[in-house]
Amino acid sequence: NQKKLLKGKTVLITAGPTYEAIDPVRFIGNHSSGKMGFSLAVEAVRRGAKVILISGPTSLKSSNPNIDLHRVTSAKEMLNKVFEYYETIDIGIASAAVADYAPKVVASEKIKKNEDTFSIELIKNPDILKTMGEKKTHQFLVGFALETQNEEENAKGKLVKKNLDMIVLNSLRDEGAGFKNDTNKIKIFTKTEKLEFDLKSKENVAKDILDCIETQILK
Ligand code: PMT
Repeated sequence: NQKKLLKGKTVLITAGPTYEAIDPVRFIGNHSSGKMGFSLAVEAVRRGAKVILISGPTSLKSSNPNIDLHRVTSAKEMLNKVFEYYETIDIGIASAAVADYAPKVVASEKIKKNEDTFSIELIKNPDILKTMGEKKTHQFLVGFALETQNEEENAKGKLVKKNLDMIVLNSLRDEGAGFKNDTNKIKIFTKTEKLEFDLKSKENVAKDILDCIETQILK
């Protein structure tokens, strides 16, 4: 019996990986499945929110009529889609694993395997969440941090640098956490608090994250 504490709120969620084209058949990507972001979207709708879900390439489907799903491919497309809606949202949750770099030049034809070695020059992608933080007026912003070392320090650094209200840390050092798994193990940092959670299903992790957001925005 869910209380609809997010009724009247618009929540924007980024999910999944981004693919950065090398040529017409190849790309740079990562292992994100989109499960964490899609679970957050379903849970936010259950709590009464209007949800805009902006997802990179994933095999996940959504038939929920209350989730406005937009599929994008690259980081630049994700950035543009986010900023079509940014002014209108109350809460932004960035669970996407955005590629930090993209090929500087995209070959127009399939690259042939002539050389023994081959390099691709990469150029930095826009940081979507950092840009959201810079343009923040009234939005409550939640980031994720996927770390492999100095986890807590890096997560708290991102909270400050990206001008966030909350950050969710998942570490690839924890078994069953992070990419692809149906489970995750998180810590949440607000500006003043640290909360630790057990390993659980991504559906239940989404509940913990939204409980924490509700506590913060309704206090
Ligand atoms: O999709 P799943 O398989 O379920 O896996 C879930 C997940 C592991 C991808 C998810 O829980 C997660 O941790 N997402 C963030 C992954 C990541 O890229 O973390 P980061 O520490 O590199 O980035 C920090 C934050 O900035 C993130 O909120 C990210 O969305 C955002 N970012 C990063 C780079 C960039 N160019 N633009 C961004 O918006």
